Amino acid sequence: MINIEWGKLPFGYSKTDYNIRCYYRDGKWGKLEISSSEFLNLHISATALHYGQQAFEGMKAYRGKDGKIRLFRWEENFKRMKRSANGILMQPITKDLFKEAITKAVLMNERFVPPHGTGATLYLRPLLIGSGPQIGVKPADEYLFMVFVLPVGPYFKEGFNPVKIAVIRDSDRAAPLGTGSIKVGGNYASSLPGVKKAHDEGYGAPMYLDSVHKKYIDEIGAANFFGIKDNTYITPKSPSILPSITNMSIMQLAEDMGLKVERRPIDIEELSTFEEVGACGTAAIISPIGEIYDIDKDKKYNFCKDGKAGPISTQIYNRLVAIQYGDEPDSHNWVEIIK
Ligand code: PLP
Ligand code: COI
Repeated sequence: MINIEWGKLPFGYSKTDYNIRCYYRDGKWGKLEISSSEFLNLHISATALHYGQQAFEGMKAYRGKDGKIRLFRWEENFKRMKRSANGILMQPITKDLFKEAITKAVLMNERFVPPHGTGATLYLRPLLIGSGPQIGVKPADEYLFMVFVLPVGPYFKEGFNPVKIAVIRDSDRAAPLGTGSIKVGGNYASSLPGVKKAHDEGYGAPMYLDSVHKKYIDEIGAANFFGIKDNTYITPKSPSILPSITNMSIMQLAEDMGLKVERRPIDIEELSTFEEVGACGTAAIISPIGEIYDIDKDKKYNFCKDGKAGPISTQIYNRLVAIQYGDEPDSHNWVEIIK
């Protein structure tokens, strides 16, 4: 029997039994390989190491009350990974190999899929890297696609309690015509100074503004931003944010609940008018925000005055999670049972 305190898991790395690998060589993808090693044997001149040719995904497997294991909208993760690969001239993985690899990675590590009701899930990390050597700045001619998995708890230690966010103005995560809208490692490297600054100030994550005007809200660390007012769900439209699959799903659920949905630029000054605000993403799920501190302007925006998530965020959270775990009907066909 596996000895994990599921309810106490952080969002952190831990070793599981197997990972899946697949190489693209001589112009074609090979067969999936199963490995029990956490290490790669990689060429010192691989483009992933020097020129950032790499892209990743983040998704989760959920165990229902019925004991079955579910994936949520995996095709959207596949599509985004393909867009990420094309965005930095990598060979995209095929849909069939992607599906086979994520399914195998979960099933071969089935004992790590957390039991229902513990708040923990199995996080899947598909990763595509340029493995072929280049020293000139050009795309590799060999690629490695991998999937590893690990059981995780909440991304923010607060769970579904209000988090505190700090606005960062002295560094940018992405540029409008850069790579902000695809899921490549470089974006996360450039976000690290902002993450550090937010943490140093005692905040959970940075909020990035658009890098041109420093006026409109882009996103929050590794999550999209949303605000709610006047029965309307509002989320930024920006060329430099990652289109979140969670956010896409929430927009649909908000509409189902009778809310108006707007995707448009959100001026940071508009923050003072929202009734509820939050961050959303696979890791973050829906995290209500209690405070946003604009460090350089020394201005604070406060929400969740009673220390709890607002009613609409709570309703959307409950509905999303119920669909993911199979507790409520999956009327949009978002969930696939893999075992
Ligand atoms: N924005 C960034 C920068 C992210 O890293 C993530 C996480 O994947 C998200 C948003 C949320 O996207 P998703 O809901 O597809 O996980
Ligand atoms: C996710 O939500 O899956 C993410 O990718 C977050 C991660 C960068 C920690």
